[in-house]
Amino acid sequence: MHIVFLGAPGSGKGTQAQRLKDHLQIAHLSTGEMLRHAEEEGTKLGHEAARFMHAGQLVPDEVVVGIIFDRLMAKDCERGCLLDGFPRTVPQAEALDGMLAERRTPLDMVVALDVPESLLEERLLSRGRADDDPGTIRERFRQYHDLTQPLLDYYQAKGILRRVNAKGTPDEVFDRISRVIEYAGNPQFAGKSQS
Ligand code: AP5
Repeated sequence: MHIVFLGAPGSGKGTQAQRLKDHLQIAHLSTGEMLRHAEEEGTKLGHEAARFMHAGQLVPDEVVVGIIFDRLMAKDCERGCLLDGFPRTVPQAEALDGMLAERRTPLDMVVALDVPESLLEERLLSRGRADDDPGTIRERFRQYHDLTQPLLDYYQAKGILRRVNAKGTPDEVFDRISRVIEYAGNPQFAGKSQS
């Protein structure tokens, strides 16, 4: 099963993907985590990406597509994976379509997490990651609106977009996501969610 988590900064993509990964026992691929790891390791890629990340901007498509391609083709993704933070632009989504076609596997579902922006800012400011200062958050939201939101239409047109109200506790949100996945006919979730 291949699932994409789509949502604005702070919408809970990482939090929910981690929970779902434990439940489904499939790989969780977070491009944000990969890029931060590369920065910590001091690699050339990490150094280049840090410039964009610290400014709240998206790292160029070709860089991100390159790192996700290698991960997606790895053995632990054979049964599927949860993509968190990728794709984030239409060219990235098209690249993902190509990679999955190569694997002869469909993208099953795109879960879009909907949270009001005022709440997102509050969450990010209280987390305090390096890119969570007010100016950088503003730019991250701008990049999300300009470059990532068009993906809602892209996946709506493919009939695989599922929007989830992601306001509430992490448990409440996970229950809603579980229901959506169960409704799509996945027996792993039978009996998991409350009505
Ligand atoms: P990335 O790490 O993906 O950052 P993001 O999309 O801005 O997302 P966040 O990690 O801030 O939020 P999230 O939605 O995962 O929420 P989380 O669960 O952490 O990317 C960072 C940067 O890398 C980008 O800006 C870009 O430069 C680069 N990059 C990454 N992917 C890229 C790509 N594909 N293309 C180009 N560039 C790319 O939760 C946030 C906080 O809220 C946490 O403290 C959490 O505990 C809390 N929280 C979560 N859920 C709840 C809840 N229900 N109630 C209360 N608190 C909650």
